[in-house]
Amino acid sequence: MTTIAVANQKGGVGKTTTTINLGAYLGKLGQRVLIVDLDPQGNSSSGLGVAKDQLKQSLYDVLVRGAEVAPLVQATKFQNLSVLPTAPVLAAAEVELAPLQHREFRLKQALAQLDFDIILIDCPPSLGLLTLNGLVAADRVLIPVQSEYYALEGLGQLLATIQRVRQALNPELALLGVVLTMHVRRMSLSAQVESELQKHFGSLLLGTMIPRNIRLAEAPSHGVPISQYDRFSKGAQSYKKLAKEVLARVKG
Ligand SMILES: Nc1ncnc2c1ncn2[C@@H]1O[C@H](COP(=O)(O)OP(=O)(O)OP(=O)(O)O)[C@@H](O)[C@H]1O
Ligand SMILES: [Mg+2]
Repeated sequence: MTTIAVANQKGGVGKTTTTINLGAYLGKLGQRVLIVDLDPQGNSSSGLGVAKDQLKQSLYDVLVRGAEVAPLVQATKFQNLSVLPTAPVLAAAEVELAPLQHREFRLKQALAQLDFDIILIDCPPSLGLLTLNGLVAADRVLIPVQSEYYALEGLGQLLATIQRVRQALNPELALLGVVLTMHVRRMSLSAQVESELQKHFGSLLLGTMIPRNIRLAEAPSHGVPISQYDRFSKGAQSYKKLAKEVLARVKG
């Protein structure tokens, strides 16, 4: 079992889009995949068609109240893909976890009771206790970086946090890679961001770049991954390729 945290404290860089679509294609490649929605916004839950309002219990109850995790895992309509959904109440966990014992280890303890080939954790856009739980539960971190002028800003802080987690809480944690999202091939700004990332991360920059593609932005409103919504789109092809690349790194 490999657990991958999809993290970047910067908002709107493509964490959720990457989690859902990478997860869908890893499932199609035969991996038994679980997506953990660690973001109170619940975008990966709704993007997979989970009706969040009807949940009696969610990840919040697991993390804060120690509820059993297995009954909360839902199979989706998509091949080999399950989801551990969230609810808006998870936002309270940032505060309510603080006084609890082993507060950074709550998610790790819960996920240890499950059996999947790959777990993808969709982290919220912050470096608070929820994201810490994600980084402690993970073996690898995948960092989506949006192709834009401020792309590299904040990455230092994220890398420092990963380093601190490695030293104090989870020595096994390693970087899986950085994936460039919303890439526009013909824009010189995009090329600049790509070469900056190449300079900073070398082989940790994944070879697959995710293009800006409207179909990727449309799919969540239908509650389906891009593999289902428009499998011939450029966005679909890129996430399919990313899944193969990620799987090779995980296995290799
Ligand atoms: N490759 C892409 N092409 C076009 N639109 C995209 C692409 N990737 C993401 N988007 C859109 O950009 C917005 C932000 O993406 P997403 O929700 O995946 O980011 P996020 O990092 O999870 O955001 P947050 O930090 O709020 O959780 C969404 O509206 C999404 O549909
Ligand atoms: Mg998100």
